[in-house]
Amino acid sequence: MIVAVDGPAGSGKGTVTQILADRLNLWNFDTGATYRCVALMTIRKNFNLDEENKIIDEIDNLNIEFKKDNGIEKVFLNGEDVTKEIRSNEVTKIVSQVSAIIGVRLKMVEMQRKMSEGKDVILEGRDIGTYVFPNADVKIYLDATLEERATRRFKENREKGIECTYDEVLQNVSFRDENDKNKPIGALKMADDAVLVDTTNMSIDEVVKKMEEIIRAGGKK
Ligand code: DC
Repeated sequence: MIVAVDGPAGSGKGTVTQILADRLNLWNFDTGATYRCVALMTIRKNFNLDEENKIIDEIDNLNIEFKKDNGIEKVFLNGEDVTKEIRSNEVTKIVSQVSAIIGVRLKMVEMQRKMSEGKDVILEGRDIGTYVFPNADVKIYLDATLEERATRRFKENREKGIECTYDEVLQNVSFRDENDKNKPIGALKMADDAVLVDTTNMSIDEVVKKMEEIIRAGGKK
């Protein structure tokens, strides 16, 4: 069983897929976290964004794992817990550009398919229903207005202790929207057979309920 959940930054994917995964007994796979790990490696290795081949080659040395610790999802990069670091401003600033490098995408998509093998999984990202798993059993596209998404990210960052202003978040979300929509491969786009859920005026509970209905109906509205 493959459930593909796509949508722009701040559309609510992360929050609701975690709840749905627990409820429906699916493995929750945050594919954005894998691109964030590559961005973190790029910073740590002091690679410039135009040193594409160095970034692509270094991916072979990355071991990315997702583990639950006391019910909390954690991300490990080569054995180190990087859950918090991959959400830092530095990573967030460059992750969209890193994920636009074609060679990075090809390797990461292969990794994502391998990590999902043999599992019932709910994946969230930008290109899951269009590129990673075009034959997914259920495809949902979450959206919300830019301002609503920036407000959510701003609140989330503050709760996590990440320093930022609302304007910085708005600018970053808007920049990533543009960048994510214009990638040569795996651009952010709703799949033709996805169900659209506009979460702008919906609570988390309402979105979860709606998505559960869609999943139980096998991807129909
Ligand atoms: O979901 P997120 O904000 O953590 O994702 C970080 C970046 O990774 C985002 O700007 C776009 C990219 N991404 C992608 O290109 N494809 C995916 N399937 C998931 C994320």
